[in-house]
Amino acid sequence: MEHWDRFKKSTMEQQNKNPRREFFKNAALTGVGLAVSPTLSFAGSQEETLQTSALNLPTRKLGSLEVSAIGLGCMNMVAGTYNPNPDKKEMIAHLRKAVERGVTFFDTAEVYGPYGSEELVGEALQPFEGKITIASKFGFEIQNGKRMGRNARPESIKKVIEGSLQRLRLEAIDLYYLHRMDPTVPVEEVAGAVKDLIQAGKVRHWGLSEVSPETLKKAHAELPVTALQSEYNLAERVVENQILATCESLGIGFVPWGPTHRAFLAGRFNEYSRFDSQDRRSQLAFFSAEGFAQNMPFMAIIRKWANQKGVTQAQFAIAWLLAQKPFIVPIPGTTSQQHLTENLGALSVKLTSSELAEIRAEIEAFNLLGVRTKDSAFVDQ
Ligand SMILES: NC(=O)c1ccc[n+]([C@@H]2O[C@H](COP(=O)([O-])OP(=O)(O)OC[C@H]3O[C@@H](n4cnc5c(N)ncnc54)[C@H](OP(=O)(O)O)[C@@H]3O)[C@@H](O)[C@H]2O)c1
Repeated sequence: MEHWDRFKKSTMEQQNKNPRREFFKNAALTGVGLAVSPTLSFAGSQEETLQTSALNLPTRKLGSLEVSAIGLGCMNMVAGTYNPNPDKKEMIAHLRKAVERGVTFFDTAEVYGPYGSEELVGEALQPFEGKITIASKFGFEIQNGKRMGRNARPESIKKVIEGSLQRLRLEAIDLYYLHRMDPTVPVEEVAGAVKDLIQAGKVRHWGLSEVSPETLKKAHAELPVTALQSEYNLAERVVENQILATCESLGIGFVPWGPTHRAFLAGRFNEYSRFDSQDRRSQLAFFSAEGFAQNMPFMAIIRKWANQKGVTQAQFAIAWLLAQKPFIVPIPGTTSQQHLTENLGALSVKLTSSELAEIRAEIEAFNLLGVRTKDSAFVDQ
C-alpha cells in the first residue's frame, strides 16, 4: 500500500526533485503533455482499487496498436546483457514509476534472464493489465536456464507461451514477437501458430524481429503484422535499406531497439572505456579498443547537435529516431529513473527538415567500425 500512496504524489513534484532538470531545458518532460489526466483507476490483484495519475504522453500507432510514443525496454532490468543484477525492488518501483509518467509500452522477452525479465514485468505491472501494452518474444530454445539455439516450431510456440503468460501474469500478450527467425521453420508456419494463439485469446497482436523485407512480407501476407523490432539508431542504420520502406508500405509499425546504441550515443564512454567480459558490449567490434578509436569522433557530431538544440545526447539520439517516421516507437532500455526522465524528454525535441538533412549528411560521411553491412538488411538475422 505504501508504494501506491507514493503514486499519488504529483509528477511535477518529482520533476522538481530532479537535480538535472535545468539541463533538460526545453526538452524536459514539462513540455510533454503536461496535462494530468483524470485519475485513472486500476483494478489490481490487491483487494482495493489502485489509484494513480498519469501524464498524457503523446502516443503513436504500431499498425492498429496505440502506445506511448516512447516505450521502455526491460532487458537490462535483470542481469545478462549489460548490468550485474539490478535490485528487484528498485526495478519494480522503476517500472511502476514509468507507468506513472505515462509510459504505456513495455518490452520484454522470454530469453531475457532467461525468464527473469518477464517475471519482473509481470510482478510490477500486473495491476495495470488492460491499461498498458506488454510486448514479449519467443523463438529461442532455453535449457537449464541457458539460451541455446532457435526454436520456432509451432508446437514449441504453443507450449512456451503458457510460461510467458504465467510469468507476465496476463491472460493475453498484447504484442508477441518472433525474436529471431528459426531457419528450419518457414515463417508461414510461425504465423499459423500465432494465428491459433490469437484465436485462442492468448495473443492480441504479433510482430517479428530482425527479419528481411522478404520474410516480413511473407509473414504479413499470412497474418497481418503489427510491428517489426530491429536495431536502429544514428550509428546503426541498416534498416534504412528497404526495411523501413517495407514497413511503411504495409502499414507495419517499427520499434527500434538499441536507440542509444547501447549507451554509446548517450555519451557514456570515451576511447579508453573497456567492458567486463559479462557485458555484451565486450563481444562487439564497435565497442572494442579499435572500434572506439575509430568511432569516438562520431560523438562530436552528436555533441554538436545536442548542444545546438539545448538537449542531452541521449535526447538528441531518441528525437532523431522519432523524427524519421511517424510509425517509429523507440524503446530505450534503462534501469535509472533519471535516464527515464531524460529519455522521455526527447518527445519535446523538434528537428526541422533542413536540420534532419544536415544531420544526415554529417552522419553518412562518417565511416563507423562494427556496424552492419548494407546487404545484411536482406538476410534474416
Ligand atoms: N529484438 C531484439 O533482438 C532486441 C535486442 C536488444 C534489445 N532489445 C530491446 O530493446 C531495449 C533497448 O535496447 P538496448 O538496451 O540494447 O539499447 P539502448 O536502450 O540503446 O541502451 C541501453 C543502455 O543505455 C543506457 N542508457 C539508457 N538511457 C540512457 C541515458 N539517458 N543516459 C545514459 N545512458 C543511458 C542504459 O544504462 P542505464 O540502465 O544505466 O540507464 C543501458 O546501459 C531492450 O531493453 C530490449 O527490451 C531487443
